[in-house]
Parts: sequence; structure tokens; C-alpha cells
Amino acid sequence: MGETASLTIDPGFHVADVPPRLFGSFVEHLGRCVYTGIFEPGHESSGEDGFRGDVLDLTRELGVSVVRYPGGNFVSGYRWEDGIGPVQARPQRLDLAWHSLEANSFGVGEFVSWSQKARVEPMMAINLGTRGVQEACDLLEYCNHPGGTYWSDLRASHGHSKPFDVRLWCLGNEMDGPWQIGHKTAAEYGRLAAETARAMRMLDPDLELVACGSSHSSMPTFGAWEATVLEEAYDLVDYISLHSYYEETNGDLGSFLAAATDMERSIDSVIASADHAAARARSRKRIDLSVEEWNVWYQSNASVQKAQTDWPVAPRLIEDTYNVADAVVVGSLLITLLRHSDRVRVACLAQLVNAIAPIRTEPGGASWRQTIFYPFAYMARFARGRVLRVDVRAPVYETKKYGDAPFVHAVATYDEDTGEVAVFAVNRRQGEAVELSIGHRAFPGYRVVEHLQLADDDIRAVNTEAQPNRVRPTRSAGWEGDGKTTRVRLRPVSWNVIRLALPTPE
Ligand code: AHR
Repeated sequence: MGETASLTIDPGFHVADVPPRLFGSFVEHLGRCVYTGIFEPGHESSGEDGFRGDVLDLTRELGVSVVRYPGGNFVSGYRWEDGIGPVQARPQRLDLAWHSLEANSFGVGEFVSWSQKARVEPMMAINLGTRGVQEACDLLEYCNHPGGTYWSDLRASHGHSKPFDVRLWCLGNEMDGPWQIGHKTAAEYGRLAAETARAMRMLDPDLELVACGSSHSSMPTFGAWEATVLEEAYDLVDYISLHSYYEETNGDLGSFLAAATDMERSIDSVIASADHAAARARSRKRIDLSVEEWNVWYQSNASVQKAQTDWPVAPRLIEDTYNVADAVVVGSLLITLLRHSDRVRVACLAQLVNAIAPIRTEPGGASWRQTIFYPFAYMARFARGRVLRVDVRAPVYETKKYGDAPFVHAVATYDEDTGEVAVFAVNRRQGEAVELSIGHRAFPGYRVVEHLQLADDDIRAVNTEAQPNRVRPTRSAGWEGDGKTTRVRLRPVSWNVIRLALPTPE
């Protein structure tokens, strides 16, 4: 087998309890995420509400806990009032962000009803690109005020007598990006975010508010942006956001497989910025991170980033098809999020359906799971209880983009209620397996309940409508253990979950 790696698990090495909101996702009015994605009136699986039943089933299977809506770049030009009330009276609008025609047959009421059916928490983003404090407060009143006011009574008249009670709100989207409609400097945005937050809290004091951090750690303003924004808004917000997308460029698979090394550094830098702002504000309050957009995204594939015709309705945009290597990277990024779960309390895989998504659909047709569906779904299912700090001892390799990276990347969780331990591990080694030795003296007698792995002799293999199950996790039978140490084989370029527990008595 060649290389070996090792790690030790101990319930005393506690990072944090697994934050349920780490398994979030994102629905934007972008391409076919909403229209013919989650919403397709007339589809054979849809009910009267037009929500695709097959997509609801897959969303629940994916284990998504929270869904951010309605954008993304879209939100920075969005008038939320266009999407409420009788559908036939709703206006059609030009969506400048994605150069599409927005029919507005799906809006905030539909989204909250969909969230309830999908059993996810709604996370709402407000437009701080072309709009401001008043429109944010109007939307908040429409969503959360019990009744007896203009907006809350209007909501009731639209069939929603109970308030939506949305707790988690994003104060704009990627306001540091020059591509953003209404893009601002850090000082301009910081002031607007602070004043919007202040007014929103007058209406509903217990909201959890996310200020926009950087769109990516490669932004020229990364670090300085966070410092300025938090200087303005520290006492008024709860989270600072970070967005992280990765892709394989120039055939450099080694760097791509180590993308989590970059995400790890970015998270550490944002934590440092937030804590620096706390020191300057002499504040004992702690700002946590919302990594509310992350994924593999082939952004350099420019041909599908823009609509090909003028103002189409629900065009096929950024419908990346993911292979096995992409799924291994997604699994590795999730490992990083879990390893930082003491400070990363919200994270959203961008996005949910069709646009850079784990779920794909055909209009009037089938739906299927992309390769990246699996690491997310299994981690959402098996990462329970506490996140355990594990130090992985593994040989390293040199990457062009990120310097040295270990071949094995891992984290573990321990569920006190069931006694089960789950070790999540990625082998970045191309062409060769690695033996992973898991030391568990603190869990004597534990044995492997199940070892699931996502790997393939063809790491470029994908799932398609014609072959929806070409790639899926398989069970591995080969492991050895003496009750104190367990050894498993991690296939080349693989994502793995090793579930350990005491054997059940015969
Ligand atoms: O998720 C796709 C886009 O990526 C979002 O609209 C934007 O926020 C980010 O740049």
C-alpha cells in the first residue's frame, strides 16, 4: 500500500458541538435553481403549490438544515414586493445579475412554504445594493410581525396568517465585489449594514444578522474589508460572511485536491480579523463566521456563465457536472468546516439545484444526485454530537498553489447519545491508497460498524440523467483492529466515513 497516516480520537479533545446550520444550502433566482429546479408547476411530482416533490425528497435526503434565499448576486437588484400577492398581478422584471427575465411567480411566501415542506430553516438575504434600510424593515415586518400593521396584514391576506419568524438574515451579498449591483466601499457598506441592522433590531431584537465579508480570500480588499465593516457594525451583527469557491485549473489536480488548505487559511484569517475588531471595540462579544457560499465551481468555463440569448426565462446557467475528484474536494471542504465549527456556525453549499448544485433536474423530467451529493448527505447524517479535534500525521506533498498539503485530511465526531464515533477522511493521493491508523484507546473495544467510501478507478466519472447511479459510495470490507487501534485502507483520491462503535452483544 505504501504510505500510512495516523490520527487519535479522544472525547476530551472537543472543538464544539456539531452546528446543525453547518449543513446549509442556497437557493438563488439563478438559471434553473428556482424555476424547473425546486418549483415547476405541472411537473408530475409537483403538488398544487408547484413544488417538485422529487426535489423535496432529495433535499430531505441530503440532510440540509438551513437554506439561504433569494441570492446571491440576484438579491442586489431584487424588489421583494414583486414576489408577493396574486401571481397573475406580479410584474416581470429584468434580472441584471444573470441577464435573465424574472417572472416572480415564486417569491418570499412560496419560499417559506417550500422551506416548511423541505423541513429546512429559511435564511433571508436583503438587498443592500439598490435598496436600503426602509425596504429591509418592510420585508422584516412582512415576514415576522404578528399582525395589525400594513405589511403583516398584507401577509395574512396572502394566506399566511402566522408570521414566518425568520431568524437568520444576511445584510446584502458580496458588496465588496465590483460585479455586484450597487457595489460599495467597505466604509459605505459598513455604515449601511450598521444602520440597517440597528433598524431591523428595533423591529425584532432577537434576529441573527450576517454582515458581508469578502467574496473570496483572493479579493484585493480581503482582511481590510472585514476590519472596516466590523469597525462600523461590530455591536450590531452576529456573523461575518465568507464565500469560497474552488476549481481545478490547468490540469493541476494536486492543488485542487488541497483546496481545503486554502479554505482553512481563509477561515483563520477572517477569525483573526473579527477578533482584531473585538479588541479594538474592547468588546467581549464574539463574531462567528457564516461561510454562506462554498463549493467547487468551474468559473473559468465562461461559456455557461452568461445567458446566451437576450433575457431568457430560467436559462441553463452554471450547471456544472461534478466528477469523483470534485466530490472528494467537497468532502474535504466540509471536513475543514467541521474542524472550525467553534467559529464557523453557519455554512451553505452553493447551490441546491441545477446551478452548481448537488441535485440536477430536467424540466418535465427526472432528477438525480450529482457526485457531490454523497459526502454532504453522509456527513449531515453521521456527523452528530461533538466535533473532536484530531491531529492527522500524514506525509505531505507539494502543491503549486498552496504549498505543502498532507495526503490525508480528516475530522471526527462523537455522539454521546448513541456512543458512535464517525471519522471523516479524504485521501488526496493520486494513484495510490494510504493506510489510515485510527488510535482510540479512549474508546476501548470499538470496532468498525461501516466504512463507506466514494472513489472510482476513473476519477472523472460523473452521474448523468442516463446514468444517475454511475458514481455512489460503496462499502469497504477491509479493516483490522485490536480494540485500541483500527486500520483502514483509503483508496486513491477518495472520501471516506468510518463509523466506529462497541459491538452490540449477540
Ligand atoms: O452562487 C453563485 C454566485 O456566486 C452568487 O450569486 C454570488 O453571490 C457569488 O458570486
